[in-house]
Amino acid sequence: MERLSTGIPDFDKLIEGGIPQGFFVALTGEPGTGKTIFSLSFIAEGLKEGDICIYVTTEESRDSIIRQAKQFNWDLEKYLDKKLIIIDALMKEKEDEWSLEEVTPEEMVKKVIQAKQKLGYGRARLVIDSVSAFFLDKPAMARKISYYLKRVLYKWKFTILATSQYAITTSQAFGFGIEHVADGIIRFRRVIKDGMLHRYILIEKMRQTNHDKYVWEIDIQEGKGIIIKGKVQERREDYALPKKVTDKIKEANKNENEI
Ligand SMILES: Nc1ncnc2c1ncn2[C@@H]1O[C@H](COP(=O)(O)OP(=O)(O)O)[C@@H](O)[C@H]1O
Ligand SMILES: [Mg+2]
Repeated sequence: MERLSTGIPDFDKLIEGGIPQGFFVALTGEPGTGKTIFSLSFIAEGLKEGDICIYVTTEESRDSIIRQAKQFNWDLEKYLDKKLIIIDALMKEKEDEWSLEEVTPEEMVKKVIQAKQKLGYGRARLVIDSVSAFFLDKPAMARKISYYLKRVLYKWKFTILATSQYAITTSQAFGFGIEHVADGIIRFRRVIKDGMLHRYILIEKMRQTNHDKYVWEIDIQEGKGIIIKGKVQERREDYALPKKVTDKIKEANKNENEI
């Protein structure tokens, strides 16, 4: 099976070398957890390897995506219209060939196929950032829309990353449906610990892969991108009280009973 590198060697090792070609993988998580930067790494690696790359952006403009990538030394501009097309669903500029006038799944698929035809043959990567934008006003349709996207885009031999939001307050998947359709799910999380923001990543699902099952702390570093820092062995917030404390309580109770 052919696998595509994510551009993060330490992450590739967790999934037997990379994302299986043709897969539709969901990146889920709260805002600011690293989904866009992970997606940009996947695209930058694709460009380095000579793949055709298409990036659909719904929450940031094309310029913002290019600027963000530049901070990690990924020069997207030099590939534009040759190996890369960024479809901008935010700016909705009529005179721009690669803007979406309407944020609908059908319009997006049409543009993606046009872009693929323009860029030609060869192995192709597609990022949809975010896919939740296409069912924003109809979350009940998430599964159906995700299934539609997977089915029609499969024929075009893309390997797809689709980001999806979690509601901040409830941690509820915003359009849960995508997770059923996806061949893989990479879960991004953030936690405030000791007065500081920490970010984590977990492979919740990767079909046909004996993937890693630990939570890993990640870091986002200027000039580099996403760094895998280390495995999370035991998280204090997973327990109501530290084990030492509960042991002491048990011990105290036992002594009381004996008196
Ligand atoms: N140049 C940079 N250096 C270090 N960290 C950065 C840089 N640019 C962005 N970040 C970090 O990445 C975060 C944004 O990550 P992003 O992938 O856009 O999140 P998401 O797509 O999950 O909402 C920012 O909030 C910031 O913490
Ligand atoms: Mg984002």
